[in-house]
Amino acid sequence: MSIGPFVDRRAVFDDLAARWDTLCPAGAQDEAVERGLALVGDIEDRVIVDVGCGTGLLESYLVPHLGCGRLLALDSSPAMMARACAKHDDRRIEWLCRDVRDAGIDTASVDVVLCYNTWPHFEDPAGVARELARWLRPGAPCLVWHDIGRDRLAALHAEAGGPIAGDQLPPIRDLAAIFRTSGFVVASAEEDANSYTLLVSRLAETQIAQDGTPRGESGAPIRTGR
Ligand SMILES: C[S@@+](CC[C@H](N)C(=O)[O-])C[C@H]1O[C@@H](n2cnc3c(N)ncnc32)[C@H](O)[C@@H]1O
Repeated sequence: MSIGPFVDRRAVFDDLAARWDTLCPAGAQDEAVERGLALVGDIEDRVIVDVGCGTGLLESYLVPHLGCGRLLALDSSPAMMARACAKHDDRRIEWLCRDVRDAGIDTASVDVVLCYNTWPHFEDPAGVARELARWLRPGAPCLVWHDIGRDRLAALHAEAGGPIAGDQLPPIRDLAAIFRTSGFVVASAEEDANSYTLLVSRLAETQIAQDGTPRGESGAPIRTGR
């Protein structure tokens, strides 16, 4: 039976889980993580989704500021998730070991979506953007960001080989276009040799048609320092 590329990628991340914190140590990412979190603002008492939570990196930064909020930590790799759960024993975190396209999150139930160092692994980026739009309340932010530029990231994935060898970020303007047509307003889209950051927000209620698609278009500056 063919089990498809999703399962192949999952096996890669299961295999990486034991080494992940050594390969990508938390402290070395403070600046990049905090730069991103500052863009989404106050998270106290909010419902947040961490898409591709891995071994629980973002949870360490988010939990102290969560207040009475809830954090849905989502990852398709059981081995990654097992490590994340073991690190963070907090009843405000709900662990969802599922694919992003099948996470079972209710429509318009989420205040913030965060996706750190994960986007290039999605097989169907437009489908994922539409699913994130479905989760989010009108006007709520979604942040996709990386602590590395896309050329270096592509080289790292090519070097890793196997199912993730071809996983790449698109030019930031192309990702912005995907989000724009998926029901978001683009607040900022910037990339340079060392970072990649897209901040969008779900359209306001009046801009969303009954089927969830956008009623109108709006633009935002795209900055590339490449
Ligand atoms: C490069 S790791 C980053 C993990 C974490 N965000 C960090 O920075 O340490 C990417 C994570 O995304 C998860 N992932 C990849 N594709 C996924 C999908 N379709 N649905 C859910 N999680 C996925 C992987 O299992 C992996 O843990």
